[in-house]
Amino acid sequence: MRLEGLIKGRSGVGVVLALVCLAIVVTVSILSATVTFVKPKTPAKDAWAAAVSEGEQLFNVKKLLGLKKSCAECHTVEGGGLEGVARTYPKYSEAVKKVVTFGQRINYCVIATEGDPLPWDSDDLTSLAAYISTLE
Ligand code: HEC
Repeated sequence: MRLEGLIKGRSGVGVVLALVCLAIVVTVSILSATVTFVKPKTPAKDAWAAAVSEGEQLFNVKKLLGLKKSCAECHTVEGGGLEGVARTYPKYSEAVKKVVTFGQRINYCVIATEGDPLPWDSDDLTSLAAYISTLE
């Protein structure tokens, strides 16, 4: 009697376990049939690309920075190229007779073009610097 009860009890547990397994298998197969796998994201690459593209727009469209002229109006003409300059900073600037950062140098042009200097930690200044650093 006791043994029979035990066997019955065990097989009851077995049935429950089998049902749970079946449920898991069915759920997984439904999910894998409906879920489309997205490409893994690389946040650093995305953030860099976004900053460069934002900087390019700021550089080319004067109204974005509220300037009298866009950066591009002066810096695409002959002699105004900024290729390779980003990596030369910080450096001594003849104009202010001291060593300045790239951000400060950008702001001298902003001020000269009657704009308000961009805060050193602003996304706009960072994006402009990122974009210019891609010009080779
Ligand atoms: C009115 C014309 C004018 C505008 C507009 C202007 N710049 Fe300039 N920028 C100059 C001149 C002139 C220089 C000095 C070039 C030199 O030193 O050979 C200069 C120098 C620079 C330099 C330093 C280059 C170096 O060789 O180290 C940077 C960086 C720069 N500008 C960025 C900008 C950015 C960013 C903007 C837009 C926010 C901008 N400029 C708008 C005329 C302008």
